[in-house]
Amino acid sequence: MREFDYIVVGSGIAGLTFALKVAPQGRVAIVTKKELAEANTHYAQGGIAAVTKPTDSLDLHVADTLRAGAGLCRESVVQTIVEEGPARVQELIDLGMEFTREDTISPDGERFYSLGKEGGHSKRRVLHAKDATGREVMRALLAAIERAPNISVFEDHMAIDLIATGKLGHEGDNRCVGAFVLNRASGEVHTFAAPVTVLATGGCGKVYLYTTNPDIATGDGIAMAYRAGAAVANMEFVQFHPTCLYHQKAKSFLVSEALRGEGAVLRDLDGRSFMEDAHPLASLAPRDIVARTIDSVMKRSGADHVMLDITHKPAPFIIDRFPNIYSTCREFGVDITKEPIPVVPAAHYQCGGVLVDLDGRTELSGLFAVGEVASTGLHGANRLASNSLLEGLVCAHRAAQSVIRTKTEFGDITIPAWQSGDATDPDELVVVSHNWDEIRRCMWDYVGIVRTQKRLLRARKRIENLREEIRQYYWDFKVTADLLELRNIALVAELIINCALKRPESRGLHYNLDCPSLDGTLAQCDTVLRRESGNKAARSIK
Ligand code: FAD
Ligand code: SIN
Repeated sequence: MREFDYIVVGSGIAGLTFALKVAPQGRVAIVTKKELAEANTHYAQGGIAAVTKPTDSLDLHVADTLRAGAGLCRESVVQTIVEEGPARVQELIDLGMEFTREDTISPDGERFYSLGKEGGHSKRRVLHAKDATGREVMRALLAAIERAPNISVFEDHMAIDLIATGKLGHEGDNRCVGAFVLNRASGEVHTFAAPVTVLATGGCGKVYLYTTNPDIATGDGIAMAYRAGAAVANMEFVQFHPTCLYHQKAKSFLVSEALRGEGAVLRDLDGRSFMEDAHPLASLAPRDIVARTIDSVMKRSGADHVMLDITHKPAPFIIDRFPNIYSTCREFGVDITKEPIPVVPAAHYQCGGVLVDLDGRTELSGLFAVGEVASTGLHGANRLASNSLLEGLVCAHRAAQSVIRTKTEFGDITIPAWQSGDATDPDELVVVSHNWDEIRRCMWDYVGIVRTQKRLLRARKRIENLREEIRQYYWDFKVTADLLELRNIALVAELIINCALKRPESRGLHYNLDCPSLDGTLAQCDTVLRRESGNKAARSIK
């Protein structure tokens, strides 16, 4: 058994920020599935939304976030995160993060940060490092991790399940005391114990066939938290990014919304700009509206993609502002300075997650969740672009302050070792890969951008059957990373469907053709699922 003061599962912006902040106070284990840098964070393009100029205001950022969230944001949470954002961004800069600055120098001799614009923002407020912000965030954080005391890093280690006292048969509070962790290289399962465990495992894009997310995004944290007895909320709100590069060989390459912020226009295959008819902000409307409009244009015309056109901008500007997108598209034979980019929507971000308060506290004592895995109430029914990195920074900081303030011990609890039972080596790996594909396709076809009651019910039936098969496989065979991820995407798929079925209205990212309007009585009402008590719709954490 390995003992620590803090276990951090995940090494994106949220996990690394938390680890850096608590490291001076105690022993920290960072457990991460692949190499440290492999996280959604690394792929972030557009940037971090924060108010940094007098021409902008906190009130406007709050108002934009609330508007995008379609009546489901928790206003006090929005206010706090927006207000605390600029200080956290400054800390990132102090750690060495280099945001892009404007070319021009002000009359006082200052070079201000360049601010990007994205959908739903009323002002330019997105700090960025060209079009590869996440790479620079990770560079700065990982350099700081190397300098920090007390941190042990476990790469290629995958958390399987949380260790909850409720499941160990202890009386009293259900408390998290650590996690079982698979060493992917050796196949051994280790027990990691600590009074504080932090889930910073990111989102679940891989539940869908087409996604902008990297392979790590299999919703493990949500699945683990749910199995341990924590509440999960608002999983029906899956954000589809409108513009993922459409190319047979391009695996999940995003074309940033920041292109539209600089004037790129969405067109159908006849060259007609179609967003003007859908929303006053046209191509810069909130993401749910843009993705849905593209979906309907594609369905109406039978086309398998639409076009994003920035060719009217000068080539040197495009290449300087979007070097990553320019060069990647070039590799796939598209010169974005000369021709429109073929794009399609793809699953991008999970607005719901493990239900937490502003300090990342879940319903299990000792268990925290920060970043995309968590549902704080910031995003409501639709996340405002570039608010996610911001939330990761602010909530990881708050969670760290909170655990430092209220140091916890777990006292006299015997933690068992992992039991493999009679499990043998898996014999039919094809079952795992087949079920992976089936779940992802089912979710794409039946639980995508536009839903119906019938499709949701059909999806639920299929996923239930698959889960039964996977459960059998899980108990019979020794665990592998692929099998564990399959088990997790199947559960997360079911949670998404069950949340969707619990919301008989269309709001933000959840659009159901059978109930296409808002139901006023469901504003401010989260869809909350708990393992023991079944499904509920209620605010349970204020
Ligand atoms: P992640 O960065 O996803 O990190 C999760 C970590 O958990 C990884 O290290 C992973 O390996 C680890 N992990 C997962 N499961 C396990 C397990 N079982 N055991 C051990 N480790 C595990 N947001 C913005 O605000 N601005 C942007 O410009 C932006 N651009 C984006 C572009 C792309 C292509 C994508 C995919 C997302 C973008 N987002 C953006 C969203 C944003 O990047 C993510 O929401 C954010 O980075 C999530 O950070 P995180 O720390 O919560 O999780
Ligand atoms: C993008 O650059 O378009 C992604 C921004 C985000 O998801 O917040």
